[in-house]
Amino acid sequence: MIPARLPLRKDVKMGTDTILALVSGANRGIGLAIATGLARRGCHVLLGCRDLSRGTAAAAPLLAEGLQVTPVQLDTTDGASVAALAGRIEREYGRLDVLVNNAGIALDYDPSLSASARMEGTLAVNVIGTVRLTEAMIPLLERSQDPRIVNVSSELASFGLRADPSWAYTETKMPTYQASKAAVNSLTCSYADRLSGKGIKVNAICPGYTATEATNFAGTRTPEQAAVVAIDLALREVCPSGTFSNDQGPLPW
Ligand SMILES: NC(=O)c1ccc[n+]([C@@H]2O[C@H](COP(=O)([O-])OP(=O)(O)OC[C@H]3O[C@@H](n4cnc5c(N)ncnc54)[C@H](OP(=O)(O)O)[C@@H]3O)[C@@H](O)[C@H]2O)c1
Repeated sequence: MIPARLPLRKDVKMGTDTILALVSGANRGIGLAIATGLARRGCHVLLGCRDLSRGTAAAAPLLAEGLQVTPVQLDTTDGASVAALAGRIEREYGRLDVLVNNAGIALDYDPSLSASARMEGTLAVNVIGTVRLTEAMIPLLERSQDPRIVNVSSELASFGLRADPSWAYTETKMPTYQASKAAVNSLTCSYADRLSGKGIKVNAICPGYTATEATNFAGTRTPEQAAVVAIDLALREVCPSGTFSNDQGPLPW
């Protein structure tokens, strides 16, 4: 189990040592809550937003609170958008300390799409978008003293839980989304292994069933509750790598 409040990285403070974090899909929902939580813990947070005007609106109350947040344009399905952001971070900051791959979609309940179209659209954001952004940010993360990647996955992807008849979500059938997040979990293991020599910690988390637009606000958790485990893995002093967890502890892959 991951304790809720482990000591934070010593360099979480305002000033020259401020941790620089990038959160994709940060204009609303869980991404905005993760970004807000990181900023309230002293990070400078780049709010990755497909529509910069929505990002600017999301950032306004945070800036009024005195937090260090900067909305940046980011569509993870667009190579030019990702490359432009990597170039900007390189020029303006020279490194990145935390990447939160949060942007994600679910198309299982869209009756206008064929099964293959649902899969293509979902993989484009949840999997290929995650790879595109991660690959672009690795050179910047390599320049951090304690780099972290947090992948926002879902326990719906867990093969171990799907095999358990007493699991709370046994009746939830989202085959496309579940396959996409299983791929995110596999990538988490692969990146954790590949990047271990560079000191980059890579972990997957499940935020829980959360009231956001993605669930038509039917989720039972608030975005603030959902954000806790991602924030913890981004900032805890001693960080594992290659894990999958929620705020109750480890999850089976
Ligand atoms: N809600 C839950 O119960 C739950 C449970 C487990 C896991 N998750 C995961 O948590 C993450 C956040 O979900 P959420 O509930 O907060 O969903 P949400 O409210 O629908 O927000 C999704 C965010 O992703 C952004 N996004 C979508 N496509 C993008 C792209 N191509 N490039 C960049 N950003 C993109 C959206 O931007 P726009 O506003 O421009 O569309 C939005 O900011 C997702 O990965 C989701 O799978 C959610």
